[in-house]
Amino acid sequence: MNSREKLSSEKIFFGLREVININEIVKGTFLVEISSSAQLSKSGPGQFVYIIPKTQKRTILPRPLCIADADADTVKLIFKVKGKGTLYLSELSKGDKISVMGPLGKGFQAVNEPVLLAGGGLGAAPLYFLAKKLRNNEKTSLVLGFKNKDEAYFINEFKSVLRNVFVCTDDGSLGSRGNVTGKIGEIIKDEKIICACGPRPMLKSLSAFAGENKMRIFVSLEERMGCGMGACLGCVVKIRSGGKEEYQRVCKEGPVFDGSKVIY
Ligand SMILES: Cc1cc2nc3c(=O)[nH]c(=O)nc-3n(C[C@H](O)[C@H](O)[C@H](O)COP(=O)(O)OP(=O)(O)OC[C@H]3O[C@@H](n4cnc5c(N)ncnc54)[C@H](O)[C@@H]3O)c2cc1C
Ligand code: FES
Repeated sequence: MNSREKLSSEKIFFGLREVININEIVKGTFLVEISSSAQLSKSGPGQFVYIIPKTQKRTILPRPLCIADADADTVKLIFKVKGKGTLYLSELSKGDKISVMGPLGKGFQAVNEPVLLAGGGLGAAPLYFLAKKLRNNEKTSLVLGFKNKDEAYFINEFKSVLRNVFVCTDDGSLGSRGNVTGKIGEIIKDEKIICACGPRPMLKSLSAFAGENKMRIFVSLEERMGCGMGACLGCVVKIRSGGKEEYQRVCKEGPVFDGSKVIY
């Protein structure tokens, strides 16, 4: 182990990683590949990393990004420029170093039944990792929803790992016109599980759909984060548990939750 690399626990890597590649895949959305580590290579779909560019001039909190793929060599992350943190990340170049902590959180559980994957916008990123793990499951279907064709990304990559990929856009400029929940209503067969990541209104409507159709649903939630490790309670969401409502931490109990229990 490099002396600058420390382990915050046996399973979590904390140290510098090198940017192997960074590309703007669609306007404002970047795919960055960083070097992996023994711990990062054991990441599961739905887990996330906390990253901070070493080159930044101002001090900011790290930013959470879902792991879009991970193996022994590289970890892939897909992000959209929103504010200064992601702007710094977009200015990285090949060979730069970034500080990485992860894998963090609890991701999607392994399932053997036919699954419907549902990704909205940037929410498609962690589903690529999940789709790769399910690639031998012929019955898995994926619905990707985007605002328009200019925001759509990774479609060919998804098609290379899954046979049943459906795309919809709000304006009909790519795939069919409409939203992810509507498309799932059209294509559903005998699937009993939905795994979803995307904007909260999409997750809310999919959770209602799953309830009406007696399906299980797992959703990946996003909240602003402070520590990323379960200590600051900055990322809590309301969850139904044992007939009561309680707060759970997206960084620790999540980011993937049983969608039927989330209070949206
Ligand atoms: C578990 C987790 C996984 C994530 N995975 C990804 C990913 O794979 N790709 C990706 O592009 N983004 C992801 N995000 C969101 C990403 O972390 C935020 O977009 C990022 O923190 C914004 O940082 P910023 O400094 O660029 O923006 P800021 O300057 O901090 O904020 C800019 C704008 O973005 C909003 N914003 C910031 N953070 C969030 C958030 N967590 N949720 C919703 N709105 C936010 C702010 O309210 C503000 O309007 C994830 C967030 C979480 C919690
Ligand atoms: S970010 Fe601190 S508890 Fe989740």
